[in-house]
Amino acid sequence: MEAGRPVTGMHIGFDLSFTHTEGAWARPGSWIGTDFPDVRLYMELARTAERAGVGLLFFGDGSGIPSTWRGSIAPAVERGIQWPRHDMSPVIAAMSTVTERIGFGLTYSSTFMHPFYVARLLNSLDHVTGGRIAFNVVASTRGADAANYGFGELMDHDLRYERMEEFVAVCRALWDSVAPDAIVRDRATGRFADPAKVHPIDHKGRFFTVKGPLASVPSPQHHPLIVQAGNSPRGIAASARFADLVFGFGGNLAAQQRHRKLLDEALLAEGRDPAGVGILWATQVIVGRTATEARARRDALQAFWNDEAVATHLSHNMGYDLATLPESFRLGELRDAIVAANASPAGLVGSLLAEFGAEHTMSREEFFAHGRSRATGLDHGIVGDPGTVADALEENFAATGSRGGYMFSSPLAMPSGFADIAELLLPELRRRGSLAPAYPGSTLRENLAV
Ligand SMILES: Cc1cc2nc3c(=O)[nH]c(=O)nc-3n(C[C@H](O)[C@H](O)[C@H](O)COP(=O)(O)O)c2cc1C
Repeated sequence: MEAGRPVTGMHIGFDLSFTHTEGAWARPGSWIGTDFPDVRLYMELARTAERAGVGLLFFGDGSGIPSTWRGSIAPAVERGIQWPRHDMSPVIAAMSTVTERIGFGLTYSSTFMHPFYVARLLNSLDHVTGGRIAFNVVASTRGADAANYGFGELMDHDLRYERMEEFVAVCRALWDSVAPDAIVRDRATGRFADPAKVHPIDHKGRFFTVKGPLASVPSPQHHPLIVQAGNSPRGIAASARFADLVFGFGGNLAAQQRHRKLLDEALLAEGRDPAGVGILWATQVIVGRTATEARARRDALQAFWNDEAVATHLSHNMGYDLATLPESFRLGELRDAIVAANASPAGLVGSLLAEFGAEHTMSREEFFAHGRSRATGLDHGIVGDPGTVADALEENFAATGSRGGYMFSSPLAMPSGFADIAELLLPELRRRGSLAPAYPGSTLRENLAV
């Protein structure tokens, strides 16, 4: 980081990707008197989060029902694992009508979608939210998603990132295709806009051909904020090229520091200032008024996760059927098999490789014990009273470069799991002066600047 540049403090996002799946729909105190997808609960949570100064409400996405484990959707359907998942853009629009400052992150896949559609939708959402929308662009690793868009097989891993880079470049060119001052709206003369300021983009690339211009009025942010999460070397290179903000996987501190270092190097290689790009670390928080209360909540959470639920969740996220695991294997062998299947070794397997090395032999049982901790989120979780959780976050923030902050998920009841973070933890962090100022600007881009 550049010497002398002020540290703005932590930014906080709430990850609302799984507010009703993985057992959250049935947890005591969850979805009281209603069920997913009742938009009123999201609107209520948006108001609570805004009062606490949360910067971003974030929705990850996936369009397929998990079917990688044993090639069947039955276990995921039976237990509600990573399904149902709706397109959350209308939910964001609804939440924006009851809030003024908080931002919203929406996920679309650059592997399956078309950039004209996404650029147009995000422009509209930027208008509706008054400049508070972010686009989380994902490369997608899941066969169940691919199958819905006509892909028998996922495109090669690195090729997906090439497509992502072109996808974002097309979106940006479309957002630039109507200049901010192109709209004249002169009622006296009837002149709506200046044709000299509206240009086709005539894009002809490897993946997309787009004439343009975008048939839209330029939006408040002009370019919605772009977020990217891939944490393979190629994924990090893509972030360095275009991301305004990175969504990083929590895991352990060594893995976070490695991610930060690789990103900084890649940003410098792109001629960008590493001090200006934050990482929000995916972190699961289980906070209680006391440590005992927090631990009891954590223990209650474990009950949902039987072996099949763990295997279904992990296989889907990795894009690799863990039913094929032998009784015992070298971690390097498993990585090679995952890469050969065009899936991603960056998640659980990446963490295990970093911790134990490629030569380490692991039993199937041991692997699933680690997998259970990943599936429950406890491997990137902090459990405790507000003071203990705040201490851990402050220490981690300083050790990972003090740029960005946290994307909190809560496996507890919806919406009280998040409300507890807003009402117990965030006031403690704010009192200590650890949080970035809440909403210093009027757009999300201004409010999440590091
Ligand atoms: C913190 C985090 C959040 C992610 N969220 C999503 C998501 O919502 N939807 C999705 O399809 N992929 C998601 N991914 C997957 C990534 O976009 C990417 O496809 C995956 O990590 C594989 O790429 P990699 O090998 O570069 O890591 C996420 C990844 C991480 C690390």
